[in-house]
Amino acid sequence: MTVRDLAQLGTPLLRQRSAEVEPGALASPALQSLMDDLVETMREVGGAGLAAPQVRVLLRVVVIEVAANERYPHFPEIPLTILVNPELELVSREPGALADDEVVHLYEGCLSVAGLRGRVRRARRARVRALDRAGRPVTLDWDGVRAAVLQHEIDHLDGVLFVDRADPRTLCFQREYDRWVPAAARYVE
Ligand code: NI
Repeated sequence: MTVRDLAQLGTPLLRQRSAEVEPGALASPALQSLMDDLVETMREVGGAGLAAPQVRVLLRVVVIEVAANERYPHFPEIPLTILVNPELELVSREPGALADDEVVHLYEGCLSVAGLRGRVRRARRARVRALDRAGRPVTLDWDGVRAAVLQHEIDHLDGVLFVDRADPRTLCFQREYDRWVPAAARYVE
């Protein structure tokens, strides 16, 4: 396994749409190595998730894991999850816009936007259909922080970064975040 170099904000491919993975190609050494390396890289740099375009591969693969994360001490634990071709559905009582009680506000960061944090409004509940690394179909129904992490990672596959969705007046650098954003404001349901 290899820790891969992370593309940073401004790299054009972070803004491109990633391609679907051919399910028949999932068992190939290249794709299995990609998934291993995504996990290794995420763990090495202390991320809660990582998407393939962040390591300059434009394929629809994301990995997520939270286990006592130093960058996100208030996050619940999330077991290692590898999703191929994830299809996101935001779960809402009503069609259309999400009501205020159907969203959460989370200060997010991103390994491709090093050093920056900002508050993002996300759907409280997300359902995802995907394939796992062996090509088996999986469905996840996640809420709260877990749902926000899912939405953040899947956004990467469409060239969307959290800074596009953050309230611009909440953007801050890590040191200022640590100093000025009280714990109670870092995640609000
Ligand atoms: Ni990110």
